Amino acid sequence: MSAQTIAFLGATGGCTNACLSYTLLNGHNAIALARNPEKLTTQLLSQPGLTQSILDKHLRVIQGDARDIETVMKTLIVSTTEQSTTLVTHVISGVGGTGQFVLSKPSPCAQIPIRIPTIPHISIPNPHITEESTSALLAALGRIADERFTCFDEYAAVAPRVTIISSTGIKKGVRDVPMLCKPLYAALEVPHKDKMQMERLLTLEQERKESLLCGGHVIVRPSLLGGDHRIAGPGVDSGYARLRVGTERRPEVGYTVGRALVGEWIYREVVKGGGDRWVGEGVILTK
Ligand SMILES: NC(=O)c1ccc[n+]([C@@H]2O[C@H](COP(=O)([O-])OP(=O)(O)OC[C@H]3O[C@@H](n4cnc5c(N)ncnc54)[C@H](OP(=O)(O)O)[C@@H]3O)[C@@H](O)[C@H]2O)c1
Repeated sequence: MSAQTIAFLGATGGCTNACLSYTLLNGHNAIALARNPEKLTTQLLSQPGLTQSILDKHLRVIQGDARDIETVMKTLIVSTTEQSTTLVTHVISGVGGTGQFVLSKPSPCAQIPIRIPTIPHISIPNPHITEESTSALLAALGRIADERFTCFDEYAAVAPRVTIISSTGIKKGVRDVPMLCKPLYAALEVPHKDKMQMERLLTLEQERKESLLCGGHVIVRPSLLGGDHRIAGPGVDSGYARLRVGTERRPEVGYTVGRALVGEWIYREVVKGGGDRWVGEGVILTK
């Protein structure tokens, strides 16, 4: 197996942390951006088989915000000298915001400190986080291409492949949500609009054709997420054989999927497998 270096954004999220754990356990190197490095290390050390010496040998943590272009650039560059720059081969992003179910909103009049009833919906602290972090990622790739390579073709030959975690229920005309879940998905309008904007940025990027910043992109659309970051230990069935994988042309419809399984799929198909088969696809993952 050849060691490669993979960049992770949102690595304290369940899906991405699981993928990062499989990556490290299988001898690859990783650079992870985290707002809270201690939280990341604690999560990783709770994974079966991951030790401090594996983290010391294979993981570099960059502290910062995924919306900050300079910080993202540091996460994408493995090494650099006057003569050459080595980039990560893949970027895996599971940046998102933790939602809260709300039944009221502040009064439109700032002087009246009351909340008024509203249609029940999910509210997140930054409703544009996935769009903003994807925009920063593309800007960081653009700056690296301009500043670290002598010509665009030289950059294009090593441009990282980008895999982002989006959601089911956002692509018009694709039946990937069970009828019974429709009311719940209606309450997810805010995070879903953000995911649509994130996907739009990647679609626009793909249309550039002449000057593509990503070495192909893969959009992962899990159904409702359950469980946490913890992966199955050796000899324990993770349930991978029961994971159903669909695409826009051949959707799979299901209710939920475990975060650790999503991470395992991204590890197996993208990190280990390279992801060629899934480039340009919206991959539906469900149980
Ligand atoms: N919940 C669902 O049912 C569902 C279904 C489909 C898709 N999704 C989406 O799937 C993705 C992965 O979900 P998940 O549950 O595995 O992860 P998650 O718990 O939503 O974690 C989000 C990650 O983003 C990071 N993050 C947020 N803002 C950041 C910022 N400004 N700078 C740097 N990092 C930032 C968080 O870091 P901190 O630890 O510092 O907060 C965390 O690592 C998310 O985008 C989620 O919205 C969710």
